[in-house]
Amino acid sequence: MIFRQLFDSASGTYTYLLASRRGGEALIIDPVLEKVDRYLQLIHELDLKLVKAVDTHLHADHITGLGALRDRTHCITVMGEQSKADVVSMRLAEGDKLAIEGVSLDVLYTPGHTDDSYSYVMRDRVFSGDTLLIRGTGRTDFQNGDSRAQYNSIFNKLLKLPQETMLFPAHDYKGETVSTIGEEKAFNPRLQVKSADEYAALMNSLNLPNPKMMDVAVPANMKVGLAQDEIARRGWALNAADALALVGRPDVTFIDLREDTEREKHGVIPGSVHAPYAGLPAEIAPGGKLQELAASIGKRLVFYCAFGERSAMAVQEAQHARIDRSCHLQGGIDAWKKAGGPLLR
Ligand SMILES: [Fe+2]
Repeated sequence: MIFRQLFDSASGTYTYLLASRRGGEALIIDPVLEKVDRYLQLIHELDLKLVKAVDTHLHADHITGLGALRDRTHCITVMGEQSKADVVSMRLAEGDKLAIEGVSLDVLYTPGHTDDSYSYVMRDRVFSGDTLLIRGTGRTDFQNGDSRAQYNSIFNKLLKLPQETMLFPAHDYKGETVSTIGEEKAFNPRLQVKSADEYAALMNSLNLPNPKMMDVAVPANMKVGLAQDEIARRGWALNAADALALVGRPDVTFIDLREDTEREKHGVIPGSVHAPYAGLPAEIAPGGKLQELAASIGKRLVFYCAFGERSAMAVQEAQHARIDRSCHLQGGIDAWKKAGGPLLR
């Protein structure tokens, strides 16, 4: 198991790098833009392949590294389904799993600090974002924060985890690095309350100044999406209506890049072939399934995913691999659903 806690001193942010082994897939939680070079150096030194970059919530105090990591490693960007970020590749909800090779995290929806706050539980530890901090809790006075929702997230979800569960928050301003659920229950001054009302009164009395970076960070963090326009200008994009007209055509194959959990939850386009994004390089290389479909059988490949991010990256890679007529479904299954496209479960 590889586990690294990385720190950005300017914003007091902790970033976590996880992998099951050297040479394997890696996941990063709450990366900071200014530290992206440092993360990539470490990922290279440990011989890891970054496949997912996750934000626990839309941050107001620093600019996320999600977009830069996606551009430089082609990793999948992940946030909760309530996120107001324009495009992330994958959206999770309570009860889902966040998985890479050898690592699986349980997804807990823990709103309160923001309405898009999530926590991720990995066996003996929890990444609590800004929901529960060490001897503190995340503020609830902006970004649709809600002190009663936070009380519920903390008392009815996080504090119900085993007492010895290690707590790794997204921030600390005093140099604390780790705590446990049991310790926080006993000693966190904000948690020594008898009711949601008492907690709300405590949170409403804090009168905190807005974070220095807020006016810059919030708008920047809402625009992390890949510029899909450039792909469209090259003629590699189909809107949902055009894609709909191709369903059932013998010379066209839809390629679903999503993971099994997303397929089960949202359904698949009839007749499509499953080729998860993480395994794409082998599939489009000579001898790969997709190279065969395109070159030998002469099929036109139409890539799709959840929101068009993974498919936009895939179509560029496929074009580089000389799968010339390939294109992607702009806006993904989200756009497909809105256009009334058929889906099989
Ligand atoms: Fe935050």
